[in-house]
Amino acid sequence: MTMMKAVRIHAYGGPEVLSYEDAPMPAIAEDDVLIRVHAAAVNPVDWKIREGHLQKFLPYPLPLILGWDVSGVIEAVGANVTTFQPGDEVYARPSLERNGAYAEYIAVKASEVAFKPKTIDHGQAAAVPLAAITAWHSLFEAGQLTAGQRVLIHAAAGGVGSYAVQFARWKGAYVIGTASGRNRDFLLELGANQVIDYNAEAFEDVVEPVDVVFDTIGGEVQQRSWQIVKPGGILVSVISPPSEEQAIAHQCRSAYVFIQPRADWLTEIAQLIDVGQVKPIVEAVLPLSQAAEAHQMSQTGRTRGKIVFQVRD
Ligand SMILES: NC(=O)c1ccc[n+]([C@@H]2O[C@H](COP(=O)([O-])OP(=O)(O)OC[C@H]3O[C@@H](n4cnc5c(N)ncnc54)[C@H](OP(=O)(O)O)[C@@H]3O)[C@@H](O)[C@H]2O)c1
Repeated sequence: MTMMKAVRIHAYGGPEVLSYEDAPMPAIAEDDVLIRVHAAAVNPVDWKIREGHLQKFLPYPLPLILGWDVSGVIEAVGANVTTFQPGDEVYARPSLERNGAYAEYIAVKASEVAFKPKTIDHGQAAAVPLAAITAWHSLFEAGQLTAGQRVLIHAAAGGVGSYAVQFARWKGAYVIGTASGRNRDFLLELGANQVIDYNAEAFEDVVEPVDVVFDTIGGEVQQRSWQIVKPGGILVSVISPPSEEQAIAHQCRSAYVFIQPRADWLTEIAQLIDVGQVKPIVEAVLPLSQAAEAHQMSQTGRTRGKIVFQVRD
């Protein structure tokens, strides 16, 4: 059996269960491509899965390779694949139902893969798919955000939030973001019109009503957010389904988004990146052998943008 390096878990638990080791090369099915991974990225879902919180929805056989953001080069294609060929530079948010990208190679359905943006390297490209698709889905498909509308983006400096700010600004919306004070200037430069320091003021006291609230925090932040949604507006959460009763009481709508692979959106997003409209924010680049450190950083909840694994140059 041909082997590769990968980060796997053999049991659910803390960062210490992440094992950098030899693993079998993935086999590809007829509709798959095999990607030679140049970079992968960390998302909070990785450590949530590592801790076992998603076992009910995703009953993985262990060992499992984590990581559902990849940028790399096509190594081989399945018999039915006509859209890609070996040598193509691609990026993807692969299905959560299979082994992930903390590895030298990953098998991905061709329909989940898009050509990588040309103007950025693999390390930056790996920082895009999961977070950017989530922001796109939440703002434009669920939230139907349009030019001239007002949007409040919670955790605007995070992986998802940093794309949401740039997408909303590109769309022509008035963009308000919440963050700690140290991220204020960063968010203004990224395109926010107004930044609320959540340690210094309560957003519901200072923000005029908005058309769309994008909730990436949940809990009491989601509860307090109802107060500032305009009648006819919408609260979109990626954390938990918002209360129907609250939506009715505030004469607005609500939506819960759980990300799906969307290669068509990745193609559009690549174009925005290539014309300089959107840029990935990368806080740290680490080797795969430091997966435990990367998860510890992500679990602080204080990351600006993304943490990336450089797997090969
Ligand atoms: N449902 C889905 O499909 C889906 C998809 C993607 C992500 N998610 C979830 O969405 C959440 C966000 O993901 P992410 O990748 O953006 O996480 P992340 O990158 O880890 O978020 C970190 C950011 O959160 C900010 N933050 C922390 N507490 C805050 C608060 N009370 N108010 C405002 N900002 C705060 C931090 O800013 P400061 O340092 O300035 O505090 C930091 O920049 C995670 O729980 C993730 O699992 C769900």
